Formats: sequence, structure tokens, C-alpha cells
Amino acid sequence: MNRTDEDGLVRAWRAAEREPGAVLLDGFHALKHALRFGGEVRRVLTADRGALLALAGELAPDVVPALEGLAVELPEAALRGLVPRLHPTGVVALAARPGVEANRAVLGRLPRRAPVVLLENPRNLGNVGAVIRLAAGFGATGVVTTGDLDPWHPNVLRGSAGLHFATAVERLALPELPDGPLYVLDPEGADIRDMPFPDDALLAFGTERHGVSAELKDRADRLVAVPMRPGVSSFNLATSVGMGLFHWMSGKR
Ligand SMILES: C[S@@+](CC[C@H](N)C(=O)[O-])C[C@H]1O[C@@H](n2cnc3c(N)ncnc32)[C@H](O)[C@@H]1O
Repeated sequence: MNRTDEDGLVRAWRAAEREPGAVLLDGFHALKHALRFGGEVRRVLTADRGALLALAGELAPDVVPALEGLAVELPEAALRGLVPRLHPTGVVALAARPGVEANRAVLGRLPRRAPVVLLENPRNLGNVGAVIRLAAGFGATGVVTTGDLDPWHPNVLRGSAGLHFATAVERLALPELPDGPLYVLDPEGADIRDMPFPDDALLAFGTERHGVSAELKDRADRLVAVPMRPGVSSFNLATSVGMGLFHWMSGKR
């Protein structure tokens, strides 16, 4: 590739980064999930197109046709200049996050066949990514966050392996929460084993350090705890979401 072509690709990438709703997909797995779950992937750059297509052929043949149309080669040195840290799979992509209105429509639609997970003011980007991955895996309707953390931050997308595109992910204010019975998970609640979760539930979890706010507890229909051995004060946030969603799923046949 000559220098002019390389500069043109870099300029086009920089322009695409500034387009409304653009989000970075870091590495093959995030890209694979975005393509598989209907994300609008706008640009794909790789240091080695042949190696990328071979990897896709081996791990995800369903996305090969889309990748053949999208993947463009750029020398690794130039690729490294586009992202803070190049993923070991040597591929970066830009996709469009779904619009807020589309997400609100999915989250608010009733009857709901699977719960919405609510994270109140989460602080840890890795935790939020892990929760989105869990929600996608369990087939939850979506994940709503409150507070100032952007659930579409690149590090959250990295943590979810791009599974944002498999469930509705949106940041909302507490008063805008979707309808549905509110089950708040809190170590002080009643034993989860006595309480099946309905499909239309909002399953709410508190912030990592301080737990659930008094305001959210006041709104709760139920306060629910996963029992713990004496002396243990709480489980990790993402782990708690995993247990909550598994509890919902194990009540279904
Ligand atoms: C790391 S914990 C918060 C710890 C906080 N100091 C507290 O006491 O709640 C984050 C969230 O995970 C959920 N969680 C953790 N342990 C739980 C348990 N045993 N039962 C139910 N929810 C739990 C709660 O929603 C909690 O707000």
C-alpha cells in the first residue's frame, strides 16, 4: 500500500469516529457479536485481512460474508496509531450505537418476556461490561444504567465482548425507568429462594461501594437477598446480576 492510500484510510477512519453514535469495537470478538446481532458496522481495519478472514472462518463462519465486504487492510504501525492499545486479534472497527428512542421502545414494551437489569450509578466499566454480557447470554430485555457512566464507553464494550448489540443498553434517569415490578437486590432483603422473578421484572442492583440508594429502595416492590455466609458483607455487582438472572431463568422451563 502506498503512503497516499494509507493516509486516506486514516483520514476516513478519523472522520467516521466523529460521526454521531460512533462506537469503537476493539478486537475480533466484539466485531463478531456486532455483526451477528445486527449492529451497523461502518468500518473495519485490520493488519492482516487474510488472517482475519481465516480466524472468522474458524470461529464464526456466519460473519465471513459481511467481513469480506467490510475488512480493509492497513499496516500495523498505522493501525496502532488509531487506538490506545491494539487488540491481539489485530482488528478494529467502528459501529453505530442504536438510537436512544429505539432502545427506549424495546425497554418499555409490554408484555415483557424477560427482565430488564437496572444498575444504579455503577462506577466500574469492567463490571458494566460483564453485566451486559450476562444480560445478553440470559436473553434479558436490556440493561439500564443511571448516573454519569456511559454504558457505551469503549472499555464497557470491550468487557461485554460487543454483546451490547444483543440486548438493549441505555442510560436513563431514575424517573424514566420502564414499567414493571421492581425487584431490588440488596443483602438486607428477603431470601431469594422464596421469591420467583416474573418475566416483566426490573431487577435492580446498587452501586459498587454504597449499594442501593434509599430512593430506589423506597420504590421497590420487593427487596431480595442472595444469602451469604456470616461475616461476608456482599457479593460483587456483576456476580450478583449473574445470580439474579440465573434465578429468573431457573424458574422457567
Ligand atoms: C458490591 S455490592 C454493594 C455493596 C454495598 N456496600 C452494600 O452493602 O450493598 C453491589 C450490589 O450487588 C448486589 N448484591 C451484592 N451482594 C448481594 C446479596 N448478598 N444479595 C443481593 N444483592 C447483592 C446489590 O444490589 C448491591 O447493591
